[in-house]
Order: sequence, then structure tokens, then C-alpha cells
Amino acid sequence: MVKTSKGKKLTIAIDGPSGAGKSTVAKALARRLDYVYIDTGAMYRSVALKAKEKGISQEDKLGLHRLASSLRINFMTDGDQVHVLCDGKDVTEAIRTPEISRLASAISKEKELREVLVRMQREMGRKGGVILEGRDIGTVVFPDAEVKFYLDAEGEERAKRRYHEMVEKGIKVDFKETREALMQRDLHDMHRDHSPLKKAEDALVIDSTQQSVKEVVAEMVRIIKERI
Ligand code: DC
Repeated sequence: MVKTSKGKKLTIAIDGPSGAGKSTVAKALARRLDYVYIDTGAMYRSVALKAKEKGISQEDKLGLHRLASSLRINFMTDGDQVHVLCDGKDVTEAIRTPEISRLASAISKEKELREVLVRMQREMGRKGGVILEGRDIGTVVFPDAEVKFYLDAEGEERAKRRYHEMVEKGIKVDFKETREALMQRDLHDMHRDHSPLKKAEDALVIDSTQQSVKEVVAEMVRIIKERI
């Protein structure tokens, strides 16, 4: 496990838009450093899935707040796979549909709901030795994180990646619709009132448009080692 000379385990933040490769890179980096990986987007997605199942509207602030407060969200690593458990049920696949992607972005504008999830994320990352991936990690959840990355890529490339990801999962999608949905979601995530997606002032920008996962991870490892 990577530690500072004083034996401190780091908190690493990775923020950025959809399809920039955050999850793949964060997972690989966590394995490399022997750190815990926390996919905060999966937490918003889990609330969205449960809200849909329970018929709670995306406008129902109180209902969403109550729902989020009552949920138990856990991550379970199994080899290369990270499973998302919501109230003990494996929702890893169910939260990745285009409908849940849209719904997760829609509900994530709610301040009260965000407060509940941010509290959970801080608790999960309290001891360090963690890599958190999301939209507001370096700006809101862990503004004191020792290392902050803002992972970006050109829109067309991100849409292609998301499209292939869906096809590989056997989800039937149209490329143009995927691109449109991704752009809409980013626009929404960047312009909401509470904790919008933006680069933390002290975050390092990495553009993954022309880089492989391996190259991005290698660059991050180099930067992290420089910091400790
Ligand atoms: O990273 P993702 O695509 O799985 O995230 C799904 C949605 O959740 C995203 O559109 C916005 C929201 N989200 C957020 O508001 N803050 C985070 N830290 C992570 C995700």
C-alpha cells in the first residue's frame, strides 16, 4: 500500500465528465496502489434505481432525502469486478441503463439528497487509502485530498466509449442517442446549482482522448509518487 514517509495513506480524488474513463482508471489505480475504490456515481445511481422502484418522483425532495438516508450502499471487490450492493441486493448491472443514467443526473441536483450521500462518502473515505471518483470529490467531498485529478476527453471520444460500453453489456442503444444523452447529462451536471462538476483549482487535468488506460494510470502513479 502506498503511504507517505509519515505512514499516511492518501485520499485521491478523480473528477470529470461522463465517459472520460474515470471508473476504469480509478479501479486500475486502486489495484495498483492497494487502495479502496469508491464509485460515488454508483451511489446516485442506486438512489435513482430505488426511487424508480418505489415510485418516488424526481421532484419529491423530501422523499428522495428520506430514501437516501435509509439506504445501505456498499461496494464489494471480487477480482477485477467491483459490485454495488444496495440494501444487500447486487445492483451493479441494473444501475447502468440509459434510463437510470438520466435519472441519476436529474436527482443529483437536490441539495438535501447530496448532503446525505456526501456524508456517507466522507465516512467511507475517513481513514484514507481511498480513491473516490465522481463530480464533486475534489471540490466538496474531500477538498483536502492530497491528490486531485480532473480526467477529461473530447466529447466525441467519450460518446464512442459510452456507446461501446453499452453494446458490450448487451444493452441496445443508438450511437446518436447515446451521444445526445451524454451531452445533456454533462450539461446538467455542470450547470446545476449545488456542487456542479468543475475542476478543483488544485486538480491536475489529464486528457485521455489519445491515451490508453494503461498510459493514464502510469501518468497518475508517477504524479502520486512525486507527491509522497
Ligand atoms: O459517474 P456516473 O456517470 O456513474 O454518475 C451518475 C450521475 O450521478 C451523474 O450524471 C451525476 C451524479 N453524480 C454527482 O452528482 N456527483 C458525484 N460525485 C457522482 C455522480
